[in-house]
Amino acid sequence: MGVDASILKALREAGDGGVSGAELAQQLRISRAAIWARIEELRRLGYEIVASPHQGYRLEAVPDALHADDLLARLGPVRSVGRDIRVFQETTSTNDVMERLARDGVAEGVVVFAESQTRGRGRLGRTWLSPPNSGLWFSVLLRPNLRPQAATQLTVAAATALVRAIRRQTGLEPEIKWPNDVLVGRRKVAGVLTELAAELDHIRHVILGIGVDVNLAERDFPEGLRATATSLYLETGRRCSRAELAATLLEELDRDYQRVTQRRFPELATEWEGLCSTLGRTVRIHLGERVLVGRAEALDEDGALLLRTEHGTLERIMGGDVTVEK
Ligand code: BTN
Repeated sequence: MGVDASILKALREAGDGGVSGAELAQQLRISRAAIWARIEELRRLGYEIVASPHQGYRLEAVPDALHADDLLARLGPVRSVGRDIRVFQETTSTNDVMERLARDGVAEGVVVFAESQTRGRGRLGRTWLSPPNSGLWFSVLLRPNLRPQAATQLTVAAATALVRAIRRQTGLEPEIKWPNDVLVGRRKVAGVLTELAAELDHIRHVILGIGVDVNLAERDFPEGLRATATSLYLETGRRCSRAELAATLLEELDRDYQRVTQRRFPELATEWEGLCSTLGRTVRIHLGERVLVGRAEALDEDGALLLRTEHGTLERIMGGDVTVEK
């Protein structure tokens, strides 16, 4: 962890009691002057750090912005997801940035956030609205030892982690629409775009692109989306700390990724099934030119949806556009 992350962590742990410059200098093994210079820099970034002769430094308020050091400081011990965090003010798509890092051989677990995306993309070639400073738009690089067919397990892991993190931060009870939409009150608040680079028999890397509509107001959504999309702010009436939600999400993702890599997917699938509003319903699935209608029955061991078609056959569905009929 870098110096700024360590200072923020120490300030958070000290709470109202504060922490002195001398203590910080000793903990971090740097001079008090260096601590003071870093505190000044953090203040410049919008962290309200009050200094008093008796209590030392206290963290009074944090900016509504994503900073890599702040996110790192909020995380507990990380096994994989969130070992390395990078934040951009603007990108085309965080998945594009990650694709370049993946090709450069960066290790798994790196996370790229952007405050805004100019060409955010969703599944099935759709665009993903990513206005500045109001959502979480990020990508995670994974290099699991899995067959390419099992990559859907990662989408399932991401959707389940999203539900738990949103529930922890907001008290809302989101549900999952297969394969990767997270809904609150039937409207979408978050989605996952899983992009895969693979050989025939093994995955080279997976990029999980995750978008969460956190503090978007009604006017931020184009009229055509208002009936089907929502934000955590619109659902709770309260603005949500994006940094806190991001840290919670990375923690939950790290946990679910371990469940996948340790071959504990059945445990994850059971949790996912309890959260999924698509199961047991009659659905219409568009797979390119093909349209299938049937009852969504369960997930198989790779995370594919098992659909009992209207003709009685059981089909394994890996992707496509799902509409719930009844
Ligand atoms: C979907 O529901 O269709 C998936 C949406 C995924 C959006 C995220 S935002 C961060 C990452 N970068 C992108 O361009 N897309 C994903």
